Amino acid sequence: LPIALAALVFGYLLGSIPFGLLLTRAAGLGDIRSIGSGNIGATNVLRTGNKKLAAATLLLDALKATAAALIAWYLLGKEAGLLAGFAAFLGHLFPVWLGFKGGKGVATYIGTLLGIAPWMVLIFAVLWLSVAKLSKYSSLSALVATLVIPVVLWFIGEPKIALVMAIMTLISWYKHKTNIERLIAGTESKIGQKG
Ligand code: G3P
Repeated sequence: LPIALAALVFGYLLGSIPFGLLLTRAAGLGDIRSIGSGNIGATNVLRTGNKKLAAATLLLDALKATAAALIAWYLLGKEAGLLAGFAAFLGHLFPVWLGFKGGKGVATYIGTLLGIAPWMVLIFAVLWLSVAKLSKYSSLSALVATLVIPVVLWFIGEPKIALVMAIMTLISWYKHKTNIERLIAGTESKIGQKG
């Protein structure tokens, strides 16, 4: 238990660093939470028009989860790594620094996969890019990719990782509630579009 607790706290703290908010603020773009969807993630940073900053947000938000997973794995074992990745995801979604109002967890989802089951990132990327190419919706692409990943993990014989990723999928879907409503209403903004 102390090992699990240490992995959780460490992961949560790393995950709760809101790179999208920090980078846009540092670039003088104001508060990302008052732009576009109000989300602190890369998709919304792209709505400022700054592609490099959006890419950096995606990369850093992903890598904080990867770092949490790999460091905890190295120090405490693979299950602790998985827990730390999960905690980083939770830290990003519910950061204490932002009154627990964080992101939707797509980048940290990818980052956790990269640390624990790296080949899965390829599948995620193919799914995300395919749906994005067809639909131009970042949210829909993430919803589809996160739905498929736990199923694939289950079928390749990784039930523990599948279970944790499935929980992350559920939480991320919940965080995408307004996106889902907009998708159904046909009012969701497309990738790069300001609205
Ligand atoms: O990656 C988050 C994405 O799925 C939705 O972001 O800003 O369109 O709500 P946003």
